[in-house]
Amino acid sequence: AALTTHVEDAASGAASADGFFATALRSHGCGELRAEHAGRQVRLTGWVDRRRDQGGILFIDLRDRYGRVQLVFNVADAAQAHQCAGERHLEDVVAVEGRVRLRPEGTTNSKLATGDVEVVVSRLDVLSESEPLPFEVSASSSGTVTGEIRLRHRVVDLRRPVIQKRFEVRHQVCSVIRRTFDRLGFIDIETPYLTRSTPEGARDFVVPNRRVTGTFFALPQSPQLFKQLLMVAGYDRYYQVVRCFRDEDLRADRQPEFTQLDMEMAFVEPADVFAAVEEVVADVFREVKGLEVSRPFPRLAYAEAMSRYGSDKPDLRYGLEIHDVSGPLGRSGFGVFSGAVEKGGRIGAICVPDGVKSFSRKDLDGLPGEVRDAGAKGVAWAKVEAEGLKGPFAKHVVDAERAELLEITGAKAGDLLLVVADADSLVTLNALGMLRQHLARRLELIPEETFAFTWVVDFPLFDRDLSPMHHPFTAPRDEDLELLDSEPVKVRAKAYDLVLNGVELGGGSIRIHDRGVQQKIFSILGIDEQRAQDKFGFLLQAFRYGAPPHGGIALGLDRLVLLVLGLDDIRDVIAFPKTHAAACMLTGAPAEIDAEQLDELSLEIQAPPPVDQDVEGATLGSGKS
Ligand code: AMO
Repeated sequence: AALTTHVEDAASGAASADGFFATALRSHGCGELRAEHAGRQVRLTGWVDRRRDQGGILFIDLRDRYGRVQLVFNVADAAQAHQCAGERHLEDVVAVEGRVRLRPEGTTNSKLATGDVEVVVSRLDVLSESEPLPFEVSASSSGTVTGEIRLRHRVVDLRRPVIQKRFEVRHQVCSVIRRTFDRLGFIDIETPYLTRSTPEGARDFVVPNRRVTGTFFALPQSPQLFKQLLMVAGYDRYYQVVRCFRDEDLRADRQPEFTQLDMEMAFVEPADVFAAVEEVVADVFREVKGLEVSRPFPRLAYAEAMSRYGSDKPDLRYGLEIHDVSGPLGRSGFGVFSGAVEKGGRIGAICVPDGVKSFSRKDLDGLPGEVRDAGAKGVAWAKVEAEGLKGPFAKHVVDAERAELLEITGAKAGDLLLVVADADSLVTLNALGMLRQHLARRLELIPEETFAFTWVVDFPLFDRDLSPMHHPFTAPRDEDLELLDSEPVKVRAKAYDLVLNGVELGGGSIRIHDRGVQQKIFSILGIDEQRAQDKFGFLLQAFRYGAPPHGGIALGLDRLVLLVLGLDDIRDVIAFPKTHAAACMLTGAPAEIDAEQLDELSLEIQAPPPVDQDVEGATLGSGKS
């Protein structure tokens, strides 16, 4: 469809503006031209991607978001354009007029969508010149630029075709999400950014309020309380693609501001939430990746996820399961093992099939380093041989115990057994969970382009220190209600996480809508009546006027896009991300504000930030994470 007022007349020499991307300044996008356009007069605009000078004839690849096309400048036909083309720098912005022709035999480029044609240019206008670039932008560059330079020159970085593709994918993911939610009858309702603190467990970003000295807004860590209010208000089936703000330690999959696909439904059990989420996720993978994911997603109880995989976000793309060998090894004469079990702990083992040949003594000595973060003191090992076990603890294991050990782990000759023991079962499991990941990477057991979803369900309601595992509005499982008084740490919640390839993609729960239960939970959490009123009074108040049972979930949209693209640094899917020190390299935020602004806010800075801050060292991550 002609989108502009260009005269559609190829013969008269005017460009026919029938390209989908036509504007007042161009007839087509650079990626639009095909063999069928041969003979057409066109006007194109874009960036100089590449230039090859062959004397009388000169080629420029012109690039825009829609693709690339080869321009030909011939000194004999258009001397001025040829000369101007010869003076162009990479990334100059130009407009050209010319005629499309089929490329001569043998010069077509099957790798390029426009590779059958080229445009013989009669006129070239320079719209804007580019200074020398901090790094290559060209579609054909390999682009090994470090994180630091990329974030500092984010605009140039964002112009690189590989990066532009990522944001197109991100856009597609969002479009599919919106279409599917619309089809399922969900409505999109916005919630405030200037609000009160929400109980998601991280630190808040706060905004001082000029109007009442000493009062602050908090940026929401999630729209949790508002979506619950919307349920009470009767807006069954809410969703929002929403920015959330958390002042927490940053990692490769965490940003201080990130986007959630947030949803909530009334009159539901977890299965209803699962079905809606699976529909959305399946649509995303089908429409964006052309991949059919199998449904329903498997469900794994938290306790089982921990005991088999040593993680509440297990990566199910590979085996290497953890076995409980507290029985046989606890009875062995090896003090570290028996001691751990005597103190109420656990001994766990991973069997690496055929592992003996893959690990040198040095590799084995390096394994404790992989589990140190979990607090484990070491990793014991034993090689399984036809004659028996070989390794430091082998001599402490008698025949009967050895047989039981092999039975439990399924180990056979040639396999390697890796064992962790600790008086704290959680340390054992966490350590083996980390070891499992290390082994999978080290042995290259992780298949590419495989997407292993799982729901992790039946989380404990409380951590061991009786703080909420999710948030204080998470409903306990009905059958565990009676344990609330006697053994609260044993109470399981109607809470669930969606896990994909070892990444926590989302988390949610069915909420408490019963006032009595809510009060009991508050009292276990040590939140007295007054504090509950102060912090969540508006929610508790709303619950007095007819609260339906409700529940929902939020998926990390950035993480979803990251996994769809097969990348691992969240900053690669956020247009203007922050460094690991939560700074923006582009704008210099966060920055000081004027004395005048401080006055207006009645704020006084006690210790001014150091003037000559080493921004680079202080704010940058390695760029490799
Ligand atoms: P939760 O705190 O589990 O739940 O967050 C939901 C999902 O958001 C993503 N996420 C993040 N992504 C990037 N950077 C971060 N700093 C970050 N923090 C969280 C994760 C996570 O699984 N209100 C509840 C949801 C509910 O109960 O309905 C909530 O926010 O992918």
